This record gives sequence, C-alpha cells and structure tokens, in this order.
Amino acid sequence: MELRAERDSDIDSWKEVILIYNSALKQISTKLEILNDEFQHVHRYNPIEHIKSRIKTSESIVKKLKKHGYESTIQNMVDYVNDIAGIRVICSFTSDIYRIAEMITNQSDIKVISVKDYIVNPKSSGYKSYHMLVTVPVYLSDRIEDTKVEIQIRTVAMDFWASLEHKIHYKLENNAPEYIKDELVECSRMISALDDKMLSLNEEVLSISQRRNASGL
Ligand code: GTP
Ligand code: MG
Repeated sequence: MELRAERDSDIDSWKEVILIYNSALKQISTKLEILNDEFQHVHRYNPIEHIKSRIKTSESIVKKLKKHGYESTIQNMVDYVNDIAGIRVICSFTSDIYRIAEMITNQSDIKVISVKDYIVNPKSSGYKSYHMLVTVPVYLSDRIEDTKVEIQIRTVAMDFWASLEHKIHYKLENNAPEYIKDELVECSRMISALDDKMLSLNEEVLSISQRRNASGL
C-alpha cells in the first residue's frame, strides 16, 4: 500500500514534505553538534557519543495512519504522525540527557510540544529514554514551516538494551513468552544500575582530577 498519489501534484507535494522533514533533521543535528562542540570547549568533554537520524519510510507512515484509523493522505501524515523526522542522541551519562534536553528547550526557535520521560517512568517493557517532540522552523523561499521532529535521548547503555530488545521482539514477531519479557525487564534494571555506577564513578574521577589540578600535580 502506498500513500495516495493520484496526480503528479500529489507526488510533488510528497517530495516537498519529505524535503522539509529532512531540512528539519539537518537543523536539529547541527544544533546538537554545536552544543556538543561548545560543551567540549567549556567543560573538556563531549556529552554526546553519537547521533542517528532517520526519515520514517512511507510504508511505516501508512501503517501508523491505518493503526490510528486515518486515511493515507499527506495532510493526515503531517497532522497525525509525529515521528516522521526522528533523531536519536546517545549520551555518555544519564545527567547528560537532562543537560541536552534543557539546552534544546532553551533555544528560542524551538518549540517543545511534549515530553515523555521514560527514565523516571520506564515502560512496562523496561524501555528507558527521554523523548521530546519539538518543532523547528524551516525557512523556504516563500514561507516558514514549523516542522515536527521527535528527539529520543538515551545513554549508550539504554541504547544497547533498546536495540537488542527491539531485535528480540522482531524475531519473535511481537509475541515473546512472558519469561523472556521478564528477563528483559530484569536486564533493563541491570542497565540502570550500570548507568548509576558509571555516573558516580565519573563524578569521583572529576573530583580527583580537580583536586590534582588545584594542587598543581
Ligand atoms: P509509537 O506509535 O511507537 O511511535 O508510540 P508513541 O507515539 O506512543 O511514542 P513513544 O514515545 O511511546 O515511543 C516511540 C518510539 O520509542 C518507538 O518508535 C521506539 O523507537 C521507542 N520505543 C518505545 N517503546 C519501546 C520499547 O518498549 N522498546 C524499544 N526497543 N523501543 C521503544
Ligand atoms: Mg514512533
């Protein structure tokens, strides 16, 4: 099944919409890179390990519209599919997640539409991440389009868990036995313990290094 494209003008508007979402992704990626560079300059470390971005495929867009009972039109996709442009920011430590979220929120051209903090409130699957739905203005020749981007911010450990959990559910066609689901929740707890440990270790390392610098060693 395809997004409805009965006329050439529909194909043109599909291409234009995708171009706009791609531009929005580029804007957010650049903003994040600048914040990371500035952070490196001021604090001597990079809070961002890496960034991944993607545009949702037309098949996934149609599937999502169908799931929510909407016709497959370009207008419905723009109105109701919030994750056409998605960006994933992988950080070193849990504290970096909130730092990055705050820095993004403070940018005056970005509007935060909604926030889902699955770190404070993990999903029943054990999934943890910080999700933000924002809009960023895309400047076209004749207008400005405020464009939605879904930002997922997580630690390397959370990302490791999420990608393996996703693979397992894919292999088992979203019908995993209960004990596998329970094991995955347990793994998620282990991942959180690891994140907590790494964070406190990092704080310890920072204070040792500050003491050494202060005493001129
Ligand atoms: P979707 O219809 O899936 O987009 O859900 P939603 O609109 O309620 O958004 P939500 O913030 O809950 O999650 C959207 C995205 O988060 C998904 O597309 C995944 O990338 C990720 N995600 C959410 N829950 C899980 C989970 O249990 N496991 C994994 N691996 N990823 C998840
Ligand atoms: Mg999604």
